[in-house]
Amino acid sequence: MKIFLDTANLNQIKKAIEWGICDGVTTNPTLVSKEALPFEELIPEICRIVPGPVSVEAVSTQAEEIIQESRGLARLSENVVIKIPITEEGIKAIRVLAQEGIKVNTTLVFSPLQALVAAKAGARFVSPFIGRLDDICHEGMILVEQIMAIFNNYGFDCEVIVASIRHPLHLVEASLIGADIATVPFPVLEKALKHPLTDVGLERFLQDWAKVKHK
Ligand code: E4P
Repeated sequence: MKIFLDTANLNQIKKAIEWGICDGVTTNPTLVSKEALPFEELIPEICRIVPGPVSVEAVSTQAEEIIQESRGLARLSENVVIKIPITEEGIKAIRVLAQEGIKVNTTLVFSPLQALVAAKAGARFVSPFIGRLDDICHEGMILVEQIMAIFNNYGFDCEVIVASIRHPLHLVEASLIGADIATVPFPVLEKALKHPLTDVGLERFLQDWAKVKHK
């Protein structure tokens, strides 16, 4: 499973790259709004350091404007993937952009049919938001399973990004069902490294090492 970082924070991205577990990055308007750098400087800098796709969201709502905005964003770097919400206007834009070779990550996906339509239109990625479904008492991971089954049935060349991940268990579940990609907030990635028994075990080994006799 590829791991993307769900953040626009350069420090978090640099750390994950140092750990060797950052295959890409997803941003959205909320994440970008938390950063001090202007958008026009932030995105190229993220693209410069990330060794993979960087999703950047188009905020226009009409097809022609989404297309124009996406072309501009795509020019920022060859890593850029355009995030487009799944709407009627979004779908029209996805088709045009896909024909131009611009990669699209269809976002705010909450149903298997939204994913099917996006893939048929030519989206390169779809992002089911599982945490937001869990929040309203729908099991988000079932949506991921359904989308994967549909894509497998028809051989769509569209990768599933498990998004809106809230905790390490989501990451475990995503990898057990064989999701292509999970996009993970940095605190969840940190938690994924940790186990209390590892800390206790390491402390004991270090204490015992101090007692070892040397020549
Ligand atoms: C995905 O691409 C989104 O940026 C993100 O996962 C949304 O997560 P949230 O529901 O925690 O805002």
